[in-house]
Amino acid sequence: MSTLRETLLSELADVYDAEKQITKALPKMAKAAEHEELKEAFETHLEETERQIERLDEVFEALGEKPKGKKCKAMQGIIAEGEEMIKNDEGDAALIAAAQKVEHYEIATYGSLVSWARLLEEEEAADLLEQTLDEEKATDEKLTETAESAINVDESEGEGEEEEEGGSSKRPK
Ligand SMILES: [Fe+2]
Repeated sequence: MSTLRETLLSELADVYDAEKQITKALPKMAKAAEHEELKEAFETHLEETERQIERLDEVFEALGEKPKGKKCKAMQGIIAEGEEMIKNDEGDAALIAAAQKVEHYEIATYGSLVSWARLLEEEEAADLLEQTLDEEKATDEKLTETAESAINVDESEGEGEEEEEGGSSKRPK
């Protein structure tokens, strides 16, 4: 059986890779977003995510370890679903749902990491991880607000982007 410290290091490697995957996915999501508010939320979170990766470097350092990533299969799956939504042009409500799945995965992971670091009396690492946990929670709440405001109202009214009248009935490919 692994020690708690080994488990902590293994999950850190997982989330390190997950964050890197997220920095590649967010620009695509920002590009796909219709609403300016959502585009900006993704762009802001990209900058935040880059800082979170640097913070993870600091966490490894605080633990006296070298930064290490381990392919996060769960994040690959969540991102693949998001990319499918973009490909199928499912709209902003779907993009928000995909982004919230990412956030919830991160919140679960950072939540565990903070508790383990505290149990191991690695206070510096725990404080750093808690900062990121708080940011992920704030992003999740921001996404909920965005979903509850303009976006769902627009999308419940139909096609999102309204065609000018006289437009043909051609369907998007
Ligand atoms: Fe993150």
